[in-house]
Formats: sequence, structure tokens, C-alpha cells
Amino acid sequence: MKPSGRLKPIPSRYPMDIWLDADFNGCSSCRIYVRFRFFVSGWRKVKEKLIAIGSDHAGFDLKERLKQEIEKMGYRVIDFGTDSSSSCDYPDFARPVAEAVRKGKAEKGVLVCGTGVGMSIVANKIPGVRAALCNDITCAKYARAHNDANVITMGGRLLKEDEALSILRMFLDTEFEGDARSGGERHRRRLAKVDELEKHYFKRNT
Ligand code: RB5
Repeated sequence: MKPSGRLKPIPSRYPMDIWLDADFNGCSSCRIYVRFRFFVSGWRKVKEKLIAIGSDHAGFDLKERLKQEIEKMGYRVIDFGTDSSSSCDYPDFARPVAEAVRKGKAEKGVLVCGTGVGMSIVANKIPGVRAALCNDITCAKYARAHNDANVITMGGRLLKEDEALSILRMFLDTEFEGDARSGGERHRRRLAKVDELEKHYFKRNT
């Protein structure tokens, strides 16, 4: 499945009037006004809110359930697999999800493996990704509010379905509290230090 933004026709039409003042040979009697009315109808790039999702075999069942919930919340989902409970390797799924977030193709990422640990290790190797292992709702809240996490990882073998759904909803519904006017400057300062560290070690930051 290919992640992409979509080009969508916008049905609205915007009338515009243009007035031309044509002055022929300086002869005022020949001065005319031409009125054009035309319509700009359009194509506009509409960026829908996209969530990238992935799991290994141990997270497969939960991923399928989370997918439905994400769609119910009004997002579009890009599923990078896996597509069954057959044994597979979590890095193969963490990587494309994290890369989709890094490239801005997806707003956030959701990754599920047995514990969530392997997925978080891999996703955090991708520059620009802040993956948070959240097997409880409090971590999900603060991962967004304080750490501006853009990927959540969860343990499919540790969580009951309703717990996982609450964690997911908390993660997607919580805003980063980085607004300086509300005292959020400290969070930005700390994240800037994380960025510095990343730049220092990821020389080929492409
Ligand atoms: C797979 O057995 C398991 O190791 C994997 O899903 C994950 O928990 C790794 O962190």
C-alpha cells in the first residue's frame, strides 16, 4: 500500500470581476470598460489527517482493532502490515511507519509488537521520530503533552483490547503543551536538546 496525500477537486467556484480600462489613442470617448467574469474552479491539495500503522505477528490482532478505531476517530489509515499472525520481524514494519512520519506523509504512527519495546527501539532510530512506548494511559497523555511524541508503540501481548483503545484515544486526542504563553517553553527547550543530540549523532540526516 502506498502512502500519499490525494489531489481532490473542490466543487466551490469563486467569482472574480476584472475591469479593463482601454484608452484608445487618448480619446476619452473611446474609453471603454470591459468586464470579465470568470470563475476559478479548483483543484487544491487537501492534506487529510493520516495515521501510519504497523505491527509484527504479536501485534497483528491488536493492530487490526486499532485501525478500525483510528478510522472511527476520523483519520485515514495507511497500513504497512503485517497482514497475518505468521512470524515476522518487527523492524520491517517499524521502519516504514517511522519513515512515513518523518517524511510528513503521516501525521502520527502507531506500532504494535509483543511488548512495544522492539518497535520503539527501531522507530527511534529514524531522525525526527519521537516514539513513545505507552502501555498505560498516563504515559500516552504525557508522551503527547510533554514529549510531543509522534509515534506510539504498544504491547499486543500485554494489553487488553479496551485498555489499548483508551491508550490510543488518549494519544491521538492530546495536544502538545508547547505553547510558551501557557508555560510550555520548557518542553520546547527540552525537545530542542533532543534534536541537538540527534543532529550530533546522525551526521547523514536525510
Ligand atoms: C516477538 O516474539 C516479540 O519478540 C516481538 O513482538 C516484540 O515484543 C519485540 O520487542
